[in-house]
Amino acid sequence: MSTQTINLKLKVWRQDGPSDKGRLDTLHAKNISKDMSFLEMLDIVNENLSKRGLEPIAFDSDCREGICGMCGAMVNGQAHGPESETTLCQLHMRHFDDGDTIYIEPFRARAFKVIKDLVIDRSAFDQIIQKGGFISVNTGGAPDANATPISQENANLSMDAAACIGCGACVAACPNASAMLFVSAKISHMVLLPQGQPEASQRASNMICEMDQLGFGNCSNERECEAACPKGISIGNIARMNREFVKSVFLDRE
Ligand code: SF4
Ligand code: FES
Repeated sequence: MSTQTINLKLKVWRQDGPSDKGRLDTLHAKNISKDMSFLEMLDIVNENLSKRGLEPIAFDSDCREGICGMCGAMVNGQAHGPESETTLCQLHMRHFDDGDTIYIEPFRARAFKVIKDLVIDRSAFDQIIQKGGFISVNTGGAPDANATPISQENANLSMDAAACIGCGACVAACPNASAMLFVSAKISHMVLLPQGQPEASQRASNMICEMDQLGFGNCSNERECEAACPKGISIGNIARMNREFVKSVFLDRE
């Protein structure tokens, strides 16, 4: 295992609260092992700040295994940093060189307020889920579910969509701050299965309306969301969501 260490200059967004203007602080990360993760590097910086009686950088994390969706920041302008399909907690310092300057900023969108430094309020995602990100019809017990035939293709597409961890990188990467990749993943993983179909169109309509009301933008096919997504969620899900939405419009007219 490599034990090479690097020294970095960090330009970190510091903001004391939602109403604070915020600023970029210059900090130094010294003797950072290339085997460390990005968050471990921030831990070291924070330890040093604390030892000097200074406020550590606030950032979110939980699993540090790329599965919970808590971490995330813009690293040199890219959501979750430079590696594709990689969350910030799974990004390693071997992707940086000695002497690099790294800009670290929070995910930004009108619907995501900065709480402190790199910590943002993603409760807007929860509000969208509350409008339909669940199945309320009776789907029977486990033996019934096993007796329901589902094509391999739909099972695979549904599982792919269910990989969304709700991190918000898609919103931060989109020039319109659209949440369509997130919402379409949540809609797709249900509509592709028989249990999700009875409420499909109403669900799409309710979740999309909530997304609009919360201040997320529309999709203009930039595909930045797909490029930034650490779970490889495809924009094909957005097309599927839009088809469900159109169906809901026709249902309303009947
Ligand atoms: S679609 Fe991808 S980027 Fe967006 S919230 Fe889900 S996992 Fe994160
Ligand atoms: S801390 Fe859980 S995905 Fe990064």
